Amino acid sequence: MIRLFVGLPLPEEIRRYLLSLHMGVRFARWQRDDQLHLTLKFIGEVPESTARDLDESLSQLRMELFSLALDGAGLFGDMTRPRALWAGVTPREDVARLRDKVEMAALRVGIPTEQRKFMPHVTLARFSGERQAENGIAAFLEARGDLRTPSFEVREFALFSSHLSNSGATYHVEARYPLGQEDW
Ligand code: 2AM
Repeated sequence: MIRLFVGLPLPEEIRRYLLSLHMGVRFARWQRDDQLHLTLKFIGEVPESTARDLDESLSQLRMELFSLALDGAGLFGDMTRPRALWAGVTPREDVARLRDKVEMAALRVGIPTEQRKFMPHVTLARFSGERQAENGIAAFLEARGDLRTPSFEVREFALFSSHLSNSGATYHVEARYPLGQEDW
């Protein structure tokens, strides 16, 4: 079995900017450089044969290049019981269309469609889920809630495997799928 998700890798300058935000929040497990990405679809544990079928199906997906910028920061959970700090993206239409295509490619190989609404984001930090007063999140959101990066071109998406350990998840790019490929 292999634990998989489909996502967008981020350009180095965007990752470098996100890494520069790592301060002022207690209890935060900031995402390392190699953990920063935007999830298009979480797949979970599947047999290797399904992973191969999914790879084949994703490689048939066609979509033009598009632009994206990180825009705004927010919190999953609440101030006293935070789950994750994240950065949002703009515009959302193209990335949502790519996500829909990924869902279709996954469904074709028997992977069920995600029922939750798509909320495209890059997780910046995770929290243990315990109650945490005075953690600095409010101040972080006050200072960084309107963060904005330059636009970057999305040229590819990727199939990632996720390996869980005590020191957090390690993500590995299993396959990359270029966008902007004509079909002739
Ligand atoms: P997150 O960043 O919002 O936590 C690899 O674990 C990626 O898949 C993460 O980016 C994570 O999104 C997402 N993910 C992990 N578990 C998930 C689940 N059960 N449902 C949906 N997405 C999940």
